[in-house]
Amino acid sequence: MSKIVFYNIGRVYTPDSASGYGKVRELKDVQILVDNDRIVRVAGNDDELEGEQRINCRGLTLLPGFVDAHTHPVFFNTREEEFIMRVRGKSYEEIAAAGGGIRNSVRKFRQAGKEEIKELTRARIHTFLEYGTTTIEAKSGYGLSTADELKSLEIIRELNEEQYLEMVPTFLGAHEIPDAYQSRRAEYIDLLCNEMIPKVAEESLARFCDVFCEKGVFTVEESRRILECGKRYGLKPKLHADELYPFGGAELSAEVGAISADHLLEISDEGIARMKEKNVLAVLLPGTTFFLGKDRYAPARKMLDAGLDVAVATDFNPGSSTTQNMQLMWTISALKMKMLPGEILWAVTRSAARAIQMEDVVGSIEEGMQADFVLMDIPNLNYLPYHYGVNHTVMTIKKGHIVYRRAE
Ligand code: NIG
Ligand code: FE
Repeated sequence: MSKIVFYNIGRVYTPDSASGYGKVRELKDVQILVDNDRIVRVAGNDDELEGEQRINCRGLTLLPGFVDAHTHPVFFNTREEEFIMRVRGKSYEEIAAAGGGIRNSVRKFRQAGKEEIKELTRARIHTFLEYGTTTIEAKSGYGLSTADELKSLEIIRELNEEQYLEMVPTFLGAHEIPDAYQSRRAEYIDLLCNEMIPKVAEESLARFCDVFCEKGVFTVEESRRILECGKRYGLKPKLHADELYPFGGAELSAEVGAISADHLLEISDEGIARMKEKNVLAVLLPGTTFFLGKDRYAPARKMLDAGLDVAVATDFNPGSSTTQNMQLMWTISALKMKMLPGEILWAVTRSAARAIQMEDVVGSIEEGMQADFVLMDIPNLNYLPYHYGVNHTVMTIKKGHIVYRRAE
């Protein structure tokens, strides 16, 4: 493949990186020249652009492909029975404490073959592309043994090589304390630090190291030890922080120099100030709040007003958020977190790319950036969250390749 012209694009909406967070660049009647995987020119519709292939965008609207900066896509069983238990009044924590939740997924994951899980993950990848997501951060965390965590990260690596969705791997061996270590948690942390992290690093299987820092899961002290250990092996820290209780996770993210702290429903004012000081990104996961049936969302306005860089992701996983739809996250972010269109556009593209240290490559439509686009049947940006619960994606383009096209 070499040069392709995407012409007759009605509108382009892209984060205006020169003007700063929340600012949108809107272009009308444009065409884009792509050379291999890169955008080489953004021009008016009347300019002469030469390419071997020409794709008519039919006056539709083009956005950067969505970047989903927090997902857990490598799992085996689904957990709809827990969903019904929650409908009947049990909480996510109660189900987890009784051995359900993540530990339920871990037991089944360990019994399943690598190929079986890979096949399921492959189908999920197709759904991401179908909904306009072109890059994801993908966590391990349903193995919780050295062999099974490697199995998870190897699946991500192998699938990265065979298809177009770009998956940036995160090691999440600290997702839970597995059954066998419930009464000897210090030993599990030793295993993480002395065996799993060194192996993951040795085989270059992950870029980030994440911890579920939460009451009943990993304490702040345990999380610090795991993240500092990851750092020594070149894995950048990330945290599941302050989701269910104010727990000091945001403060820890600043202390260890994390790239992002995620969830943050219960973040303290001190946590916001520390994150701002250390330039830690807030990755908000409103689909999880929705799916756990909660009323109180992360205080996005407070964080934005304090000057934090905010991303929004799905948290796609089999327990607390089963959606892969970033368009739905847009609507929930608008209604429940009062985020404005420009802020959300940044949150699902450029800031999300920053949360995985990819902002020089993906997350905006500019010359030199990777040709990752989503073509949508929306007349303007406000229409996207307004007409909700449907898929507006007409075509998804990754590295210049059409990877999804809606059936006529
Ligand atoms: O991000 N919070 C921790 N982990 C996931 C839930 C995973 C699960 O329930 O399987 C989350 O919400
Ligand atoms: Fe998560």
